[in-house]
Amino acid sequence: MTCQNSNCQCGSKGTSDFSELTPVLEEYAKVPGSLITILQKAQDLYGYLSMDVINYIANETGIKAAKIYGVATFYTQFRMKPIGKYLIMLCQGTACHVNGSKMIEEAICEELKIKDGETTEDGIFTLNNVACLGCCSLAPVMMVKTVNGEETYGNLTKEAVRIILKEIRNRES
Ligand code: FES
Repeated sequence: MTCQNSNCQCGSKGTSDFSELTPVLEEYAKVPGSLITILQKAQDLYGYLSMDVINYIANETGIKAAKIYGVATFYTQFRMKPIGKYLIMLCQGTACHVNGSKMIEEAICEELKIKDGETTEDGIFTLNNVACLGCCSLAPVMMVKTVNGEETYGNLTKEAVRIILKEIRNRES
């Protein structure tokens, strides 16, 4: 099965084969306690954990698919649905929180009509609240990630974040 979302970060690779996972599975499949590492690497490769990839990991590791699914859905770090072309990682660490990250989140949610963890209907944006991004002096901060790289925006205000999102959307239309 290929990826159903042409905007998602698994890009043109699709998920029709999982050959990119082979080196990961060669290294970790038989190492006890490595399931989370395998899932993290699978998510890095495909953007999210589809049932196809879970079944593939189950076949290769001998771990039951139901158990893998249970682990994947237990941890918030794992995504079970495709993400948008632009992944907004909004910092909710202490420095950003003190400097108004909640206000920034409100502005993003209003502008994009989504909540944390959701993707816009057009598949362009996904919003994820994250822990400290490591540039606290720029708080409040967000990082916008695409398959081509990432950009960090600091000293955000409600107005600034709306302008950034509008610019991205204009670029995409
Ligand atoms: S708390 Fe936001 S970058 Fe550190």
